[in-house]
Amino acid sequence: MANTLIAEKPEHHDAIERVLARAFGPGRYAKTSERVRERGAILEPTLTRVALNEAGDVVGVCRIWRVEAGEPLYFLGPLAVDPSEQSAGLGLALVRDAVAACRASGGNGVVLVGAERFFRAVGFTPVPAGRLSMPGPVDGARCLWLALRPGGLDKVHGELSAPND
Ligand SMILES: CC(C)(COP(=O)(O)OP(=O)(O)OC[C@H]1O[C@@H](n2cnc3c(N)ncnc32)[C@H](O)[C@@H]1OP(=O)(O)O)[C@@H](O)C(=O)NCCC(=O)NCCS
Repeated sequence: MANTLIAEKPEHHDAIERVLARAFGPGRYAKTSERVRERGAILEPTLTRVALNEAGDVVGVCRIWRVEAGEPLYFLGPLAVDPSEQSAGLGLALVRDAVAACRASGGNGVVLVGAERFFRAVGFTPVPAGRLSMPGPVDGARCLWLALRPGGLDKVHGELSAPND
C-alpha cells in the first residue's frame, strides 16, 4: 500500500500513541531513550515524520528531538511502524526522511539508541566509547550517531541533556 510521509501535526498525537503501543507493547517507558526525552529534550514536529496510509491513518512515526551534548544535536526516536505495515520498507523510509529534514535544517548530527544492523543502511555508526553518555543504562553497541555535515560530530561529547537555548 502506498504511504505518505509528512511532518507531525497536533491532530496526529493520539494515533501516534496507538501505533507506539501496538509496535512496542508494554515496557516502552522503561527505555533509556525515554529518560532522554524526560530530561527536557524538545520535540521538533517539523522534523518528525509520520506515515499515513491511503485512508489517512497514521501507521508509522519517527520522532526527532533537540538535545545537547557539548553541541546542539538531534535525538531520533521513537521509531515505530504499525505491525500490520512492517517489513515493507516503511521504517527505513521514515528514518531517511526525518534525517534529510534534520540535514536541511543545518544540524550537526543525529544520535539514537537502536540496532546498528537496521540503522547502518542510513549511515549510522556506533558512538566511540567515552564520547557520549545517556541518562540511564544503555548497551554501548546500540548508541549510534550520524554526522549531518563534515565534522558535525567533532565537538560532541558528554551526557545528552536538554538544549541550552
Ligand atoms: C523497527 C521497525 C520500526 C522497522 O520498521 P519496518 O517498516 O518493518 O522496517 P523496514 O521494512 O524498513 O525494514 C525491515 C527490516 O528491518 C530489520 N529490522 C527490523 N527490526 C529490527 C531490529 N529490532 N533489529 C535489527 N533489525 C531489525 C529486519 O531485517 C527487517 O527485515 P525483514 O522484514 O526482512 O525481517 C518496526 O519493526 C517496529 O516498529 N518495531 C517495534 C518498535 C521498535 O523496535 N522500534 C525500533 C527502536 S530502535
